[in-house]
Amino acid sequence: MPTQFLTQRNDLTQSTIIDCEPLSAKPGEVVLQVDRFALTANNITYGVAGDMIGYWQFFPAEGDWGRIPVWGMATVSASEHPSVNVGDRYYGYFPMSSELLVKPEKINARGFVDAVEHRSQLPAVYNQYTLVSIETGFAPNLDNHAMLYRPLFTTSFVLDDFFADNDFFGASQIILGSASSKTAFGLAFMLRKRAGLQVIGLTSSANVAFVNNLGLYDEVRTYDDVEAIKSAPSAYIDMAGNRGVLSRVHHHLNEQLRNSCGVGITHWEDRDGEAPESLPGAKPSMFFAPSQIMKRHEELGGAVYQQQIAEATSEFLEQVDAWVKIEEHPLAEVQSVYETVLNGAKPDSGLIVVG
Ligand SMILES: NC(=O)c1ccc[n+]([C@@H]2O[C@H](COP(=O)([O-])OP(=O)(O)OC[C@H]3O[C@@H](n4cnc5c(N)ncnc54)[C@H](OP(=O)(O)O)[C@@H]3O)[C@@H](O)[C@H]2O)c1
Repeated sequence: MPTQFLTQRNDLTQSTIIDCEPLSAKPGEVVLQVDRFALTANNITYGVAGDMIGYWQFFPAEGDWGRIPVWGMATVSASEHPSVNVGDRYYGYFPMSSELLVKPEKINARGFVDAVEHRSQLPAVYNQYTLVSIETGFAPNLDNHAMLYRPLFTTSFVLDDFFADNDFFGASQIILGSASSKTAFGLAFMLRKRAGLQVIGLTSSANVAFVNNLGLYDEVRTYDDVEAIKSAPSAYIDMAGNRGVLSRVHHHLNEQLRNSCGVGITHWEDRDGEAPESLPGAKPSMFFAPSQIMKRHEELGGAVYQQQIAEATSEFLEQVDAWVKIEEHPLAEVQSVYETVLNGAKPDSGLIVVG
């Protein structure tokens, strides 16, 4: 029996698994059988920001329930579309469920776009399904790595590029919040190639050893130790979204803080605190990767920029297994895997659910 994993939209600690009828395809539609997906703090952020950004609308559920999206891979199990074949595999955005019904359009050798009505107003990047093949950049036997790191490391790459493109806003030290997160240490991996920058990781005391062991940061500090950071022209790139820490970074560095860039909300339970717009130093803003990607596509051409991302990703993937071990769990364990990630999974694990 197919299953769906649901969470309460307004209380992510409440979740359930339900059985459901197998999906069937009408003309023009395709059923995708979800093979596997990755689960990280990024997916929890989709739930936390679900109403703000529309993440709940991708895979609607009944009543107060919602389906948090994940990046995964699926195989076509039924096709009523002449250009999509049973057995083909696609990478893209899925619910944590056994199956997904899609309506492929704009089909080419690289994949298709899901043109189902309820997704039509949502950001295009999430509606794209890419055929899994060497030609589209998927190395054999690295499916887990692709699902886990592609979405995160692309953000790391684009952040590094955005800051370099802006001469680091005059900062000589870059402080990363939630330094143990994959997105943050992917960024540190890119930043260490830039000359003349001090890269400082801020993390919780439980994760200091992991962050030190990465060898990617020049300095590692706990959240309690913000005030010990040297007063120098700085940028804060924040994956934690912890309002208390944000406030302390701003008050400590004050006018020396040249840029304050919000990227994530790993500390989703610590959202109370001083209003960001009233903090001293640079005004906090949210990073929007698609703007920088569009800018670079115009300047360099899409193929060149995508090639740069692909090369950097390969270099990162060659090293990342030394830091993070991939763990596979069956779909039957999805609820416990989700709870582990919600409560803060160990940073040295990369969790994959296999359908
Ligand atoms: N805007 C974008 O386009 C974009 C793209 C990719 C990722 N992001 C964001 O970047 C952030 C990191 O994502 P990721 O998938 O790379 O994370 P991840 O690797 O799963 O991060 C794990 C780390 O996050 C912190 N954490 C996780 N859950 C926590 C909890 N319940 N309480 C306290 N700390 C917790 C801990 O780090 P510390 O102890 O070091 O704080 C933990 O080691 C997410 O918020 C994600 O949404 C944004």
